[in-house]
Amino acid sequence: MQKRHFLHATALAMAALASGHAGAQDNRFKIGFILPMTGPQASTGRQIEAGAKLFLAEHGDTVAGRKVEMIVKDDTSLPDVNKRLAQQLIVSDQVNVLAGFGITPAALATAPLATQSKTPMVIMSAATSSITEASPYIVRTSMTLAQISSVMGDWAPRNGAKRVVSLVTDYAPGYDAEKFFKEHLTQNGGEVIESLRVPLRNPDFAPYLQKVRDLKPDALFVFVPSGAGAAVVKQFLERGMDKAGIRLIGTGDLADDDQLNDMGDGALGVVTSFNYSMAHPSALNKKFVDAFLKANKGMRPNFQAVAAYDGMRVIYEALKTTKGQGGGDALLAAMKGQAFESPRGPMSIDPQTRDVVQNIYLRKVEKQGGEYYNVEFDTRKDVKDPGKAK
Ligand code: PHB
Repeated sequence: MQKRHFLHATALAMAALASGHAGAQDNRFKIGFILPMTGPQASTGRQIEAGAKLFLAEHGDTVAGRKVEMIVKDDTSLPDVNKRLAQQLIVSDQVNVLAGFGITPAALATAPLATQSKTPMVIMSAATSSITEASPYIVRTSMTLAQISSVMGDWAPRNGAKRVVSLVTDYAPGYDAEKFFKEHLTQNGGEVIESLRVPLRNPDFAPYLQKVRDLKPDALFVFVPSGAGAAVVKQFLERGMDKAGIRLIGTGDLADDDQLNDMGDGALGVVTSFNYSMAHPSALNKKFVDAFLKANKGMRPNFQAVAAYDGMRVIYEALKTTKGQGGGDALLAAMKGQAFESPRGPMSIDPQTRDVVQNIYLRKVEKQGGEYYNVEFDTRKDVKDPGKAK
C-alpha cells in the first residue's frame, strides 16, 4: 500500500473513532500505556506499570459495566517510536485512553494524535510545563519541574545557599528547572553563578562536576531525570565536593526513592523539593507503600508509581461519572477538576490547565532502620504549575 493511502486510511479510522462508531459493541475499556520499559529510563516504565497494576488489583477491573484492560508498549524513550505505538494503539487496538509517557520529547511527539483522535492522554511522568498545552486532551498526574524548582529557589537562599551553580539535563524539563530555580533564587537574594547542561544520552558528569568544584559555590542545584540521580551523587562524592563544603540540593528526581538505598551514606543530608516521598507520613501512604512493596518483591515506589496509581484513579472516576459511556470528550470533562487524597497528600486536576495541583515538600535524606528516606520537613500547599504561558 502506498504511504499516502495508508495515511488516508489512518485519518479515516481516527475520524470513525472520534465520532464513536468503532468499538461500540465492545465491553472492554482499554488503556494503552506507552512507556520506556528498556533503556536508560527503564526504571520509569517499571514504576509506572507497577503503580497502575496495583490500583487495578485493589479496585478491580470492572468499572461502570466496562472491563478495564491495560496494554503496555515499550517506546525505549524514543519519540518516533512513541508516536508509532500511539498510532497503533489508537487505530488497531482502539484504546479509550493513552497513558504513561516517560520523557517530554515522547509525550510531545504523540500529543497531536490525541487531539486528532480525541483520545484522552494521561501523563504519568513527563514534566515540562508546556506538555499540557500541546493538546486539549492531555491531563497530567505527575508534576512539573517549574512547580518543584520554584519551591527550591525560594528555600535555598534563606537557608545558606546563596551562590549556587545549577546543573540540569539538556532538554525541555531541564530548561524549566533551570529557569524557575534561578528566577526564585534571585528574587530571594541568591545568585546563580553558572548554569551547566549535561546531555540526556550517556551523560558523563565528571567534567561538569570538576568545573563546579573549581567555582566553589555554596551549593550545587541538580535536575536529572529519574534514574540518573545515583550517578550524580556518586561522582559528587568521588570528587570530595561535600568535603569541600559544597552542598547538594535539587529536585526530588535526584534523590529518587527507587535508587536512594543504592546511594548509601553519601546521600545523607541532601535536600530536595518534590511532590512525593515514600516516607510521607499519612495512613493512606503507609497502606500504599506496604501494598506496593508486597506486590513488587521489595521494589520501593517512587513519584512515578504514585502518578500512575493516581492517574488510574482519575480514569476510573471519569469512567464512573460518564456511566461507562467513555467517549473522549466526556471522559476529559469528567477528569477536569477531580480532587482527592493521594499517597502524596491532597491533589487535584486544575480544570483550566488540566495540570496537577499539589503540595510540594522540602525533604532531607535520612537513615531510618537501615534504609534511606526523603524525610519531609516543610510544605508549600496546593502549588499550581507556575510555568504556563500567560
Ligand atoms: C521529562 O522528560 O519530562 C522527565 C522525565 C523524568 C523525570 C522528570 C522529567 O524525572
